[in-house]
Amino acid sequence: MNFGIIDIELYFPKVYVSQSELEDYDNVSKGKYTIGLLQTNMSFPLENEDTVTLALNAFERLVTRSNLDLNSVGRVEVGTESSVDKSKSIKTHLMKFFEKSGNNDVLGVDNINACYGATAALLNTINWFHSPFYDGGYAIVVSTDIAIYAKGPARPTGGCGAIAMLIGPDAPIVFEKGHGYLSSYFSHDWDFYKPKMSSSYPIVDGRLSIGCYLEAIDNCYETFKKKYYLSHQNTKKKNETGNGINETQMEKEKEKEKKKKEKSKSKNCKFDLNKADHVLFHSPFNKMVVKSWARLNYLEWYDNDLDIEGIQEELRKKPKSQTRTDRSVENIFRKVSNQTYKKKIEKSNYICAQCGNLYTGALYGALISLIIDQKEKITGKRILMFSYGSGIASSMFLLKVRKCPTKIIESCSKIPERLESRTKINPETYSEILKNRENDKFKQLPYNPEWQNKYMWQNSWYLKQIDEKCRRVYEKS
Ligand code: ACO
Repeated sequence: MNFGIIDIELYFPKVYVSQSELEDYDNVSKGKYTIGLLQTNMSFPLENEDTVTLALNAFERLVTRSNLDLNSVGRVEVGTESSVDKSKSIKTHLMKFFEKSGNNDVLGVDNINACYGATAALLNTINWFHSPFYDGGYAIVVSTDIAIYAKGPARPTGGCGAIAMLIGPDAPIVFEKGHGYLSSYFSHDWDFYKPKMSSSYPIVDGRLSIGCYLEAIDNCYETFKKKYYLSHQNTKKKNETGNGINETQMEKEKEKEKKKKEKSKSKNCKFDLNKADHVLFHSPFNKMVVKSWARLNYLEWYDNDLDIEGIQEELRKKPKSQTRTDRSVENIFRKVSNQTYKKKIEKSNYICAQCGNLYTGALYGALISLIIDQKEKITGKRILMFSYGSGIASSMFLLKVRKCPTKIIESCSKIPERLESRTKINPETYSEILKNRENDKFKQLPYNPEWQNKYMWQNSWYLKQIDEKCRRVYEKS
């Protein structure tokens, strides 16, 4: 049935702050955020925006544009790590849209684990399509997040936005094959977490988080390759036994030819980076993507005994886990992977460079960026995806663009113009807005957030009030 991504909508606030201006304001060395982290601008929310307004806007725009009958939707899942309530899911806010249709038979709630939530939502949804409970129709997966950090080195790696994806049959972008092409790495660590319910800021150990991210890549890729190989071996065996090998095939004169083919088949059974046209990563900041691609190239060199000019064999003696945070190893493989980075990866950085870290949406922002660049050329391409959430939850899987994703290209092509028409806010005001979110004024009820029309997109949802009972009231501008 080719279940997969049919359409995508990206929503981001109208305001942003320039990373170059932030460098001056934060008094760090010039180029640290723009060249060092590879970030250009950063989205952030105003007082009257939260992860519910972002989700409402992305969801409504997707549904309206596709003229979707909400009676045909059987599942809505949200991925987030910036909930506004410890119990009530953001998904339940989206049910407001279903009131007119009378459809309440809509499965799904919020998925939470750092930046992994949207992938969890997407995988749940794909599983639902293949389950006995699937009764036809569509699903919608929404990622919505606000990435804001306390003053310090993590602050420029913030961002915000929501992505809504329409999932259903006969989709142009599908998960390639079944279980063989999905690997995961789950583990326990304290690289990034949000234990204080009164604060939106995480406690983050930046260095450790980079190490954990690379640990997840190492393990996901290793398992991915193993599963890919096994899955191909199984298919091969099935073909041999299932199809029945007739007498003529077994004739001796063909035996030699067969052996030759076997050898090349066995090579094809193994996954290597050349088998993906593009590789997309969870992107907290774009330099992390450069590091990740370098890491995959190191793994390829190490595991496949590749002989690359200029790389000393001595390096192979170091255990893989000890090279993750080794600068010299990173630098060698950044050089080695530079050409392929430009060809396969670089164009996927656009949304992250403009909006910053979308947390659960970051990987899907990379997909949008790639489609903005490739347009129809994306057809037929194979995309390796790596999703990471701190703590640790991570997965690697393959997407295939099986036919031209016309609707997605149409929606994505409008994004650059929308990004251009945003309003730049100076770093002083940006810092003040974040400060306001921290202070008590925000917590006194009833709370009526201040806002100005000029800083909002027309026809967008905003937070009108948090009433005496802490209930959030949303309206449209
Ligand atoms: N010009 C050019 N480049 C510069 C300059 C300059 N003037 N100054 C520094 N740089 C480079 C550095 O060399 C470094 O690049 P490199 O890694 O390629 O060598 C980069 O800019 C960043 O500089 P650092 O000194 O490493 O930055 P710092 O340690 O202050 O902060 C960090 C970086 C740790 C990533 C911080 O922003 C952070 O904690 N972010 C949040 C955690 C995070 O996003 N982790 C990723 C995975 S977890 C998740 O997804 C949330």
